[in-house]
Amino acid sequence: MNLFILTGAGVSAESGLGVFRGPGAALWKRYNPIRLATPEAFAHDPALVHDFYNTRRRNLIAASPNAAHVALARLEAELARRGGAFTLVTQNIDDLHERAGSKNVIHMHGELLKARCASCGAVRDCRDDLSVDSRCGCGGALRPHVVWFGETPLDTDEIYEALAAAEIFVAIGTSGAVYPAAGFVRAARARGRRCCELNLEPSGNAEEFDDRRYGAASEIVPSWVEEILAR
Ligand code: OAD
Repeated sequence: MNLFILTGAGVSAESGLGVFRGPGAALWKRYNPIRLATPEAFAHDPALVHDFYNTRRRNLIAASPNAAHVALARLEAELARRGGAFTLVTQNIDDLHERAGSKNVIHMHGELLKARCASCGAVRDCRDDLSVDSRCGCGGALRPHVVWFGETPLDTDEIYEALAAAEIFVAIGTSGAVYPAAGFVRAARARGRRCCELNLEPSGNAEEFDDRRYGAASEIVPSWVEEILAR
């Protein structure tokens, strides 16, 4: 079996990290992404942008993986044991998949617990707050190692290669609002692959999926994993 899993903010919602869109409280209802998650925002008001990500970093450090993260780590380990292939791509900048035990996670939108030099591009671990005074050894300003709107997602060659090879595409906890991730289902369908959506509610591109399951990730992901492993 060769599985390609895409996760989004919904997989970490029950860990208390908040989603960007969807029913109830959502980050982009409270905050304007144009003022916080673009290179222009960082150039215009770096202190405001640092503040937003500092709060999110502190929340992340205090959070724990939930049953959905744990189930996906178990799926990866079991498939490896059985000689299957498994790719986990996340739009999330948190490290909850890794803390649950996932070994190979592709963070296409970067990682909150890393900082990058805006001048030389060097990436380093970062668990503390960043400020306008945070500097790289080269003297350049440090920024969160996250992909902002208008920037290119990371590792896309590797991602599309894995997507082309996968037999089943599964989207978990993502609204299907942000490209290129929102286009993965169409790419998988074009190759005749089976596509499955696990989400709290139908996503923006729900009709493109063959199999749809709705409910809280901590419930539907573990039961779907059990089903896959029983095949
Ligand atoms: P969104 O916040 O857009 O979507 C989260 C999805 O998770 C929604 O469809 C919710 O209904 C669903 N959801 C909420 N709670 C859930 C739960 N307990 N169990 C299962 N599903 C639940 O998040 P993403 O699709 O990941 O990018 O957003 C994509 C990108 O948009 C993010 O990476 C971020 C954002 O702007 C940047 O900041 C560049």
